[in-house]
Order: sequence, then C-alpha cells, then structure tokens
Amino acid sequence: MQKFETKQKLILYFMRGSCRYFAMAAVFAALVSLLDMIRPKVISFTVDSVIGTDVPDLPDSILRLIDRLGGMDSLRAHLILLAAAVLLIGLLAAVFRYLFRSTNARGAEIFVERTRNELFRHIMYLPYSWMAENSTGDIIQRCTSDVQTIKRFIAEQLTALVRTIILIIMAVVFMGNIHWKVMLVSTAFIPIIVAYSLFFHTRIGSAFQKADIEEGKLSTIAQENLTGVRVVRAFGREMYERERFEKQNVYYTNFWVHLIRLLSAFWASGDVLTGTQMLSVLIAGSYFCVNGELTAGEFIALLSYNVMLTWPVRVLGRVISEMSKAGISIDRLRYIMNSDTEQDIPNAQTPPLDQEIRFEHVSFAYENGSEQVLRDVSLSIAPGSTIGILGGTGSGKSTLMYLLERIYELPEENGRITIGGVDIRSISRRHLRSNIGIVLQEPFLFSRTLEENIRFALESATLDEIRYAAKIAAVDSTIQGFTDGYQTFVGERGMTLSGGQKQRTAIAQMLIRKSPVMIFDDSLSAVDAETDQQIRQALRENTGGSTVILISHRIPTLMHADRIFVFKDGRILEEGSHAELMAREGLYRQIYLLQSSGGDEL
Ligand SMILES: Nc1ncnc2c1ncn2[C@@H]1O[C@H](COP(=O)(O)OP(=O)(O)O)[C@@H](O)[C@H]1O
Ligand SMILES: [Mg+2]
Repeated sequence: MQKFETKQKLILYFMRGSCRYFAMAAVFAALVSLLDMIRPKVISFTVDSVIGTDVPDLPDSILRLIDRLGGMDSLRAHLILLAAAVLLIGLLAAVFRYLFRSTNARGAEIFVERTRNELFRHIMYLPYSWMAENSTGDIIQRCTSDVQTIKRFIAEQLTALVRTIILIIMAVVFMGNIHWKVMLVSTAFIPIIVAYSLFFHTRIGSAFQKADIEEGKLSTIAQENLTGVRVVRAFGREMYERERFEKQNVYYTNFWVHLIRLLSAFWASGDVLTGTQMLSVLIAGSYFCVNGELTAGEFIALLSYNVMLTWPVRVLGRVISEMSKAGISIDRLRYIMNSDTEQDIPNAQTPPLDQEIRFEHVSFAYENGSEQVLRDVSLSIAPGSTIGILGGTGSGKSTLMYLLERIYELPEENGRITIGGVDIRSISRRHLRSNIGIVLQEPFLFSRTLEENIRFALESATLDEIRYAAKIAAVDSTIQGFTDGYQTFVGERGMTLSGGQKQRTAIAQMLIRKSPVMIFDDSLSAVDAETDQQIRQALRENTGGSTVILISHRIPTLMHADRIFVFKDGRILEEGSHAELMAREGLYRQIYLLQSSGGDEL
C-alpha cells in the first residue's frame, strides 16, 4: 500500500492531473504582470518624448517601429496611436488575466474532484474497526472543509504568492532600470509591511480558530434540535433549548465583534504604514526630479509601479500565515490516506463455504488490555443445520458473528475459526462475506426506494425475486400497503419505517442472496411474536440447505434450532437441543420459565 511520508508527497499525489493547469496559470500570471509593467513605460515615453523633447530610451526594435510609423513628429500628430497602444496592452492583459483565472479555477476543480474520489475510494476499503474508532462527523469534515482549505491553499494562496513574487521581481527590475535609488526606497518597505501583516495574522489565526469552534457549537445545538425535534417537543423543552441557543449565539457574536475590532485596528495601522511608504517614494522621486536625475515621465512610471505593489504586498502576510493552516489540513487527510485498508493475504483462498463451521478456543477483546468479550469459546456448526445462540445484551453474540465475517480480525494467538477445515484468515474477505449473509441487529437502510434497498444485496435481482424474498420476510403485504409500494422512498425525506419494518426489509435483503450461511443477529427483536413465528416458519421452509444461525434473547425465536448455545459473559454456559436443555436445571430452563410467565428480558 502506498504511504505518504510527507505532506508534499500527498499534495503531489492529489495534484496529478491538475498540475499542468496550475503551471499554465503561473505563466499567464507572469504575462499579466509583464503587460502591467509595460503600460507605465508607454505613458512615461509619451510624457517625456512625445509631449516633451527627450531622446526616447527604448529598445532598438521599438525605435525602428516608431521610425516606420513616420518618426516622433508623426506620433505627435497622431496621439491616438499611443492611446491605441495603451488600450492594446490593456486588452492583452485582460485576455491573459481571463486565461489565468480560468485555468487556475479549472485546475482547482480537477484537484478537488480527484482528492474527493481518492479519499472516498480509500475510506471504502478501510476496516470497520477504523470507522468505529473515528467519528463520522470528523471524517466528513476532513473530506469537505479540509479539502476546501487545501484547495484554497493551492488555487488562491499559492498562486497569490507566486504572482506577488513575480510582481516584486519585475517591479524591482523595471524600477531599478529607471532609478535604482527610488527603487530601493520603495522596496525597503516591503519586508516591513510583510513582516507586520505576517505577525498580526499569525496572532489572529488562533482567534479565527476559536471562532470556528464556537460556530461549530452553535450549529451543533441547531442540528441536534432539528433532528431531535420530537424529543424536544415531547418534553416541552423548547424554552430551555432556545435559551441555550441564544446564549451561545450572543457569545459567538461578541467574539466576532472583538475580532473585527482587532482587524480594523490592523487595517488602519497598515494604511499608515503604506501611506508612509508612498510618501517616501514621492519625496525621493520629487527630489531626484528637481535634481534633474529623473524626467517627469520616469517619475510618473515609478509612482505607478509603486502603487501596483502596495496591495499585493499588504495581502502577502495574510497569505503566508494562512498557508500554515493548509499544513494542518493536509496532515488530517494524510491520516486517512495512510490508514491501512483491509488487505487479504496473497493467494487468499475461495473454498466452498457450505461446510462445517468451527470456533476453536476463541477469545477476543476489542482493544489490547481491555476486558475480554469472548472467553475460550468452542463450538461447531454442522452444514445445513440451524443453530441458536441465546444470551443477554453484551454477552458477546454479535462479536462472535463479526469475527466470523472478519469484520473484526481474530489475533493469531486467540484461537481460530475454520470453515471446512480452512482457517478463515486465509479465505478472501470478499468471498467470505458474500457467502455469509448477515442481518444486522440495527439494520441500516439507504435514502433510496425500498426496491433499491432490497436489491442492494444482489444487483441482478428481478422484481419477482425481490417480492418473493419480501414475502418470506413477511414484509411484502406491508410494502404493498404503501401508496408507492416498492417505489416508496425511505429516509429523511421519505417514509419513516418502524423498527420491525426495517428489520423485515433487511431480512428480505439478505434472503435475496441465497447465501450458504445466514445469520440473523437479533433481527426479529422489534417484530411482534406472531410475525416472528410466521417468519421463522417461512424461513424453515425456504432456507433449503443453508446453515442458519439465529441469535436472540427470546427463546421462542430459536427453540426449534437443532442446537442451542447459551451465552453468558462471553462464555458458553450450556448447549444442546431445546428438549435437552429443558431437561436440565440450568439457565436455559430458568429463562424459559421466566419468559413464558410474561417476563421477556433476560
Ligand atoms: N466496537 C466495539 N468496541 C468496543 N467494545 C465493544 C464494541 N462492540 C461491542 N463492544 C462490547 O463488547 C461486549 C459484547 O458486545 P456484543 O457482542 O455486541 O454483545 P451482544 O450482541 O451479545 O449484545 C459488550 O460489552 C459491548 O459493550
Ligand atoms: Mg448483539
């Protein structure tokens, strides 16, 4: 797997495909600056040699062009030609400015597109444990605002830096050509102005960060209240939530007022600084003009160059200080891109999985050193049989199934799981998961139609197959009852399904796959007893030769299984058929008696 040791490596990787646009943009930016530099030259020539009588100090090629046009006298007679020259330069500069902006923007969009795709692709193959460790909000923020920060860095800050440097170099050359002393007076202020704004912006940077955090708090309150609106209404907490929001809003507003005051002070003092710089250039220029070292035209050109520099130089400090923000964002993306994706061992096997499944002395803890969730679990499941796993919440039932699917990896020294004698560590994950269907305890449906949701498990499923699976899952008639039937849209802007309806849809989704191994992880918990029985009956008739694992804390759900394992605190306490377990004075019998007398929970 590719690792990005440095920020630069990652940026260059993301910039593949957009690099050349940025290079082109830099060339156009240089051309714009060059043309901007030539215009004061034309004006200075006009003032000195056309209006005045100085011998023009111009390159030979241009002198020859003037001769061909009829010499200086003809130019004097046709001043419109000079206006046309200024206009032409302006037009050309406009064209290059347009090209600069469009290539730069094009590059930026291509960059963002590639970055998003690369991130999404990488995240899709990260292990589930990674997702569990990192909050969804944080991952999304990395993929959105951090990507935007980096885009701004490349398309705005980096190009501004390049443009300003080109501009300063050209200004130094053009001004130096006219009069090096005035050039020195003008440029001597550049480091001072940049240093001042850099100092200020680095200091104010943390305040902006704080503002972001405060804004985040504000939107969290708003978001929670929008999604949790039912809870707020049910408990009549509108007033309390309003006060909480308003308090945070006032705090956030005051913070910004303070920040803006600081910013205003900075801009005002910056004005004084650049004003002093202009004044100095004006004094020096006038002095040399009176002295006879400078012509009026040259003086005007020098002033124009100086004005051209003022603004970009003032912004430079901010640009440099903001560039450091991009560094943090790049590291945040590097964290994602450097996280290991799920990798199968070379030559991973794809054996048939309709075989005996064995757990041999399996122990497991979610984190090193934390409490063991499974302790020395050994069990075997005959192919084609139905087994039940009974246990209370937190007894490790789901964990056992995650290990079987390799959603979590069983460490080498913690026992092993085999299918048909093959250690699942050497079986391809894809093969394993596509053959072991699981209905999760908390099913998730996408914001798509019901048909699409069920088809998610098998792209090629026909509507008949979907309906057949839905019938077994006892959800077909419910779906038919909706106005839009299978085209009903699920999710925020569509139908909100009840817990039981979701579970049954998820069962239909799994059934469509006809996997050799099917796991129902507490998948009937939200379904009423009657429907539960109806589904189990249909399953028994339709799961054919598949191995079925029923997980529940309710005995009726799994009492017909060939073999039942009773879990407590990650251990198998008892095992046997319903009749065998009932004949014993154990936990199973105790639970059975409790549940049949009305108590449902363990
Ligand atoms: N991703 C996880 N990280 C850490 N602990 C977990 C994780 N998932 C489950 N657990 C813990 O493992 C134990 C067993 O959980 P689980 O296998 O879901 O039990 P069951 O399915 O029997 O209710 C519980 O104590 C639970 O808190
Ligand atoms: Mg569970």
